[in-house]
Amino acid sequence: MSQCAVLILAAGLGTRMRSRLPKVLHTLAGRPLLAHVLATAKALNPSRIVVVVGYEADRVRAAFPDESVGWVVQEAQLGTGHAVRTALPALEGLNGQPLLILSGDVPLLEPRLLQQALEDHQQANRSLTVLTTTIEPPTGYGRLVRDGAGGVVAIIEERDADPTTRAITEINTGIYCVASDRLPDWLAAIRNDNAQQEYYLTDMVALAATEAARGGRPVGASHHLDRTAFMGINDRSQLAGMERIFRDRVVGDWMARGVTFVDPQSCWVAADAVIAQDTIIEPNVIIGPGVAIGADCHIGPFCEIRDSRLGPGVRIRAFCHLDGADLAGANDVGPYARLRPKAVLDQGAKVGNFCEVKKSRVGAGSKVNHLTYIGDAEIGSGVNVGAGTITCNYDGKHKHRTVLEDGVFIGSNTSLVAPVRVGAGAVVGAGSTVTKDVPPGALAVARGRQNTVENWAARKKK
Ligand code: UD1
Ligand code: CA
Repeated sequence: MSQCAVLILAAGLGTRMRSRLPKVLHTLAGRPLLAHVLATAKALNPSRIVVVVGYEADRVRAAFPDESVGWVVQEAQLGTGHAVRTALPALEGLNGQPLLILSGDVPLLEPRLLQQALEDHQQANRSLTVLTTTIEPPTGYGRLVRDGAGGVVAIIEERDADPTTRAITEINTGIYCVASDRLPDWLAAIRNDNAQQEYYLTDMVALAATEAARGGRPVGASHHLDRTAFMGINDRSQLAGMERIFRDRVVGDWMARGVTFVDPQSCWVAADAVIAQDTIIEPNVIIGPGVAIGADCHIGPFCEIRDSRLGPGVRIRAFCHLDGADLAGANDVGPYARLRPKAVLDQGAKVGNFCEVKKSRVGAGSKVNHLTYIGDAEIGSGVNVGAGTITCNYDGKHKHRTVLEDGVFIGSNTSLVAPVRVGAGAVVGAGSTVTKDVPPGALAVARGRQNTVENWAARKKK
């Protein structure tokens, strides 16, 4: 296949979304719609990618700081034809390469479908190939009108169609391969005398068909059976429907690669998540963007995991919340634990029920098992943190660090007032409020002494 260029139309406000957010920034599987389309475009290895933005153009561009694409701004959204016309200067010098036109709101498209269409387009030496599919009911889509011999005649938008045309179920997917040298003439000829008073890109089809009838290059439609791939998103219920389709696909792929989902339909997995073999995922688990889960992990029900890395053999019990955490492997977490950004658990470290860990390392084999807050702390290996321990890391202005060296034992209900360091092997008695460093091997007890009065109860009664 020879090279092509790609143009993506993404300037529309997406009126039917009823949103202040540009439509192409709404997410599917945790990724903006436009990111899905860009990924498909890049898979074709095109000579260039041009994206037309308009509504909230800066915001859309800012969402893709690392993409090497040409951005074109369409100040007023006067229609898809006008959008392509605005992009013409950015499409100069294509030297006969075909141009592939995509929509920013058709995210499930697969590169192989586009490759196929490009090959058909070039083999038949066409000036224009429109990709179509059959949808019943075809509500909202432009209809493909063919002549008695099956030749392509025009695309008519639903709002401009008579009842006979409306009954056609072969629809325009909004995706085209075009001869870039013919495009400027067609665009110049497009008028906006239609129901929406817009410059419809679809009108180029009738123009190209007329040229073909007068001896020009042929026009064709490449009809595809997989209509899901071409589904566009215009409103939030279509977005939710697509989320379901995408989720089934992503989860299905991971199951095919050896991951167990006890109840696949109740789980949600981001497009970029990675899950290794023989991991078991129980019902109602959300695996968000930026997650990698190692082999033989077990994720209990009702957990939400985002932007986190789990090594092999990690057990996450029910109702845990992980965001920005790194777990080395063989860790046991929860139930009801919260691991916040920069929580790092070394090999075999345990964090139990009702514990919160933030910006802290918990060393190998250490245990933070009950009702505890660990913030801005460095905990060595083999440390035992008793129930109800709190690192008092915040003085109202600044955050301070707590260091618990290897083998430390912290008794229950201890407050560690940071900055503070407990040396290797030291013991802190239960109920202590530790405000000064504890040397290695020492015992620190910082609580009121117990005062016992014998026979006090009996005397009080008298
Ligand atoms: C369009 C097609 C329709 C097709 C459908 C497939 C036209 C006139 N109609 O209709 O035949 O069946 O897609 O999904 O093309 N856009 C711009 N600038 C504009 C207007 C739109 O960049 O001025 C962009 C939008 O952001 C969107 C794409 O073009 O990504 C399609 O526009 P949209 O308004 O969604 O067109 P449809 O009504 O879906
Ligand atoms: Ca659309």
